[in-house]
Amino acid sequence: MTDTLPTFPQSPSPVIIDGVVAAARVKAEVAAGICDLTARGSVAPGLAVVLVGDDPASIAYVRMKERDCAEVGIRATDYRLPADIPQKELNALIEELNRSERVHGVLVQLPLPAPLDEAQVIERIAPAKDVDGFGADSLGRLVRGERALRACTPAGVMRLLDDYGIDPDGKRAVVVGRSVIVGKPMALLLLERNATVTVCHSRTADLAALCREADLLVAAVGRPGMIDRSYVKPGAVVIDVGINRTDKGLVGDVDFADVAPITAAITPVPGGVGPMTRALLMANTLAAAQAQL
Ligand code: GUN
Repeated sequence: MTDTLPTFPQSPSPVIIDGVVAAARVKAEVAAGICDLTARGSVAPGLAVVLVGDDPASIAYVRMKERDCAEVGIRATDYRLPADIPQKELNALIEELNRSERVHGVLVQLPLPAPLDEAQVIERIAPAKDVDGFGADSLGRLVRGERALRACTPAGVMRLLDDYGIDPDGKRAVVVGRSVIVGKPMALLLLERNATVTVCHSRTADLAALCREADLLVAAVGRPGMIDRSYVKPGAVVIDVGINRTDKGLVGDVDFADVAPITAAITPVPGGVGPMTRALLMANTLAAAQAQL
């Protein structure tokens, strides 16, 4: 299939969008904001990090988030809970964190082990402390175009686009994936910036043809290397949100080696969207603290 498609030899080298550098910039801004806050006598922002069970990937993510907190000056408080914690106890902890004046953001690492009900937990987090932006209040405000804490991964993608001078205005954007965490808020953020957005998913007919219409293609499906160049219009910008653990290490949803040569710009995995997700969590925690203090 690859051989029948244009290889875009006239294109200059694609821009490799560097999420590590962009995240460092966001974190430096957050650190400066925290210095301002504490110089005026406020406490440093506090983030409660709740991890239930011992899923190795979740443990690794939480560790990286806590390292970022230490770097920017956010006080992270760790809540490590057993996988068999009763729902009632977990709910009660969230309510306690909602009441705590020292906690400005509450992050519950997902997925929760079965049979815990994620929706009950997410809905309990006070909207002012919903630094993941997954609650109905945060998402509803996003739909309405109102100020709120916005989901970190899609907000991180928007910041990457801005940093690289990629303006979604008037562009055809295709988002592959319709999750509450990425796909749906991603589509809304792109729409807010005047892109014409199509959201595709596992039941979309002729997915590759639809994706080939995209000036801006965002892949958030969770299937390693699924997007090859048969899905990509030459000269498109490709954003890979996938983080898949495979025998070959971390790989994205995009077959980078196949796709990169025909793009105008593309994010790598690792080192693309992932670091920005964590940086935006720091930015959301600062924003939550500023609003509460
Ligand atoms: N699990 C996978 N991504 C995320 C995220 O962005 N936030 C939380 N809390 N859990 C996740």
